Amino acid sequence: MSLGEVVLMGIIHPVSRPFYPVLSNDTTGVKSVPRGEIVMLTIDEERFQESFETYSAIGSTNNNGLHRLALTDEDKHVRDQFVADLESLGVDIRIDQIGNIFARRDGQNQDIAPILIGSHLDSQPYGGRYDGQLGVLTALETLRTLEDEGIETKRPIEIVNWTNEEGSRFQHAMLGSAVFIEKTDLSEALDLTDVEGNRLGDELTRIGYAGTDAVEPFDIHAYLELHIEQGPILEEHGNAIGVVDGVFGITWLRATIHGETDHAGPTPMHTRRDAMATAADAISEINRLPNRLSADAVSTVGELRVEPDSINVIPDVVEFTVDLRSYDDDVVAEAIERTEAEIVAACNRHGTTYELEEIWKTRHTEFSPRVRDAIADTAESLDVTYESIVSGAGHDATNVNQAFPAGMFFVPSVDGKTHNEAEYTAWGDCVTGANVYANAILALAGR
Ligand code: GLV
Ligand code: MN
Ligand code: MN
Repeated sequence: MSLGEVVLMGIIHPVSRPFYPVLSNDTTGVKSVPRGEIVMLTIDEERFQESFETYSAIGSTNNNGLHRLALTDEDKHVRDQFVADLESLGVDIRIDQIGNIFARRDGQNQDIAPILIGSHLDSQPYGGRYDGQLGVLTALETLRTLEDEGIETKRPIEIVNWTNEEGSRFQHAMLGSAVFIEKTDLSEALDLTDVEGNRLGDELTRIGYAGTDAVEPFDIHAYLELHIEQGPILEEHGNAIGVVDGVFGITWLRATIHGETDHAGPTPMHTRRDAMATAADAISEINRLPNRLSADAVSTVGELRVEPDSINVIPDVVEFTVDLRSYDDDVVAEAIERTEAEIVAACNRHGTTYELEEIWKTRHTEFSPRVRDAIADTAESLDVTYESIVSGAGHDATNVNQAFPAGMFFVPSVDGKTHNEAEYTAWGDCVTGANVYANAILALAGR
C-alpha cells in the first residue's frame, strides 16, 4: 500500500484531504518519505486481530463472550498479558494503589501534559468481547503503530487500563477513574465488597495489582476512549463512527422490602405481609416510569435477592437494585423520587416496610469540543462517515472529563447488543475505528 492510502473496512479509500506533513528524512529512524508527501497512520490489522484473539481467550465463554469480572483470576491473567505487551514496547509502566495500569511513551517534550488513551479490561458476567477491551487494544495498537513508524510525538502519550469499570462485582462503576480524579476516596474504594464479602483491596493484593503509586490526577492535555456503541443507531444510519457528545447521568439504588415470613398454604391472602408481592408491584411500576418522564429515560431492575428463598414460604425480605438513567440530571432526580413513591405505595398495599439506599451516582457529562473536533476532523480526513451521538452507557471518560478535556467515539454494535455474549462488532468496523483513533491521537499529541 502506498502512503496516502488507508485501508478501511478492507476497502482501499483514497485519502480525501492530506494532513500531517512529514519531516524530511533524518538519521533517527523516521520513515524515509520524500519531502512534501503526507503520511497517515495505518494500523497493522493482522497484529491488532491477533491481540484481540489472544485477549479474548482470557476468560472466554462457550458462546464467544467474556466472563472476566474485576479482580478475578481472569482479570489478573489479562492484566499480565497487557503488562507483558507494554514491556515489549519499552514503555515505563506504573500501577497505582487502586490497580489502574498506566504506561508512558515519551514525547519530544517531557514537560508538557500527555495525551491519555485506553479503556478497561474487566467485563460483565457472561458479557461481550468488545466492551472496554476494544478500547484498550486500539490504544495499544496506536502505540505500536507509532513505534513502527518511528514517530516521536510532541506530547508524551500515556496508556491506561482502568480498574473495575463495569461495577458488576464491586458495585461502583467506573471506579479506577473515579479514584483517579479524586471523586471517590481510595479507602472507600478498597473497602468495597463483592456478594461473597471479598474486600476489593484484598482482591487487588491477591492478584498482584495493588500498586504502590499514589492515585492522584496528573495534568492531561486530552483523554480519548474508543468504545463500541452498545446501541443500534450507527448500524441503522450506516455510519462508521459516532462522535460522542456526552454521557447519560446514572443513579443506582438498592431497595430492601421487609415483610413477614409464613407458610404458603395455611396463611390466608389477606393476612399476609408479603415482601415479594410488594417488590413485584413496585418493580412493574418502576419499569413504566420512563414513559412518563422523558423520551430518553430508562429504568432497570437487574438484581433480586429473596429470603428465605423457599418455594413454599412467604418471603420476608426482598432486595432489588434499580438503575435509572437520562441525559438530563433533573429527569434522573425525578425518577429517583417517583421510584420511592411507587415503593411506598406498594408497601402500603401489602403492609410492608422498606429501606432505599443510593449505591452509586454519576452526573451526565458533555465532552470537550476540542476532542470532539479532533475526532470529526480525523474521520473526515480519512473519508469515514460519522455522526454525533449520546451515550446511555457509562464510561471512564465521564470521570476524566470532570477534570480534564476528554472525548469518546463509538464503532457500530451489531443489533445494538451488549453486556451479553451476543455483543458483536464487524472486524472491518474495529479496524476503521482503530485507524481513526491512531490518527486522532497523533493529531492531539502533535508531531
Ligand atoms: C457500564 O457499563 C454501565 O453503563 O453501567
Ligand atoms: Mn465499557
Ligand atoms: Mn460495560
